[in-house]
Amino acid sequence: MRIVFIGPPGAGKGTQAKLAARSLGIPHISTGDMLRAAVAKGTAAGKDAATYMNAGKLVPDPVVLRMLEDRLKECDVAPGFILDGYPRNVDQAEALSTLTPVDRVVYFQIRLEDLLERLVERRVCPKCNSVYNLRSHPPQKAGFCDNDATPLEQRPDDRKEVVEARFRTYEEQTAPLIDHYTQKGLLVKVTAWGDPAAIQTRVLEVLRA
Ligand code: AP5
Repeated sequence: MRIVFIGPPGAGKGTQAKLAARSLGIPHISTGDMLRAAVAKGTAAGKDAATYMNAGKLVPDPVVLRMLEDRLKECDVAPGFILDGYPRNVDQAEALSTLTPVDRVVYFQIRLEDLLERLVERRVCPKCNSVYNLRSHPPQKAGFCDNDATPLEQRPDDRKEVVEARFRTYEEQTAPLIDHYTQKGLLVKVTAWGDPAAIQTRVLEVLRA
């Protein structure tokens, strides 16, 4: 299954993609995670990407496309994949269609006004990438990762002013993908509000339908 997840920042795409990838036995490919790994390495490309990410803007298309092209050549992708964070605009969707067919696009439907708090309260483990939320999914010991006891961090783009810029970028550039993929007959909608386990049940239902 070649699956794309789209939805606004904080809709739960990453949380749901990890669970669904495990159930379906296919890799979860997150362009956000790949870019953050490049930033953490401190390469010139990573430093350049960080300036866009920390301003709530999209990293230039050719940079992300090159990264994704390499990832899709790896062997684990043969049975399928869940692509989380790509495409982010119609040009990226066209580029993706030259690399691989897509079987299903899952749109995580939720109001932006429900997401600001979620994002500001997200905390991540810089070592194992586990994702927490101070309100909905706190770690057992406040401030530390359950898996490896590493101090948790806030993503630099989860500060309120950057989140607001990310919402604008989403509405201007990414939301048009909803019509794009509806016209292609690939879009399925999932309500992204409520208990994550219930959302996962809905995701697997639409993928298996
Ligand atoms: P990326 O990492 O893709 O960010 P995003 O799309 O903004 O999505 P998020 O990771 O913020 O949220 P999510 O939907 O995955 O939610 P999550 O499950 O973590 O991209 C970051 C940046 O990289 C972009 O802004 C851009 O600069 C760049 N970039 C990436 N891809 C690019 C591309 N293709 N082209 C150009 N630039 C690109 O959940 C969020 C929080 O909510 C967590 O704390 C979680 O615990 C909690 N939560 C999850 N589900 C629920 C629930 N049901 N109820 C309550 N809380 C919940």
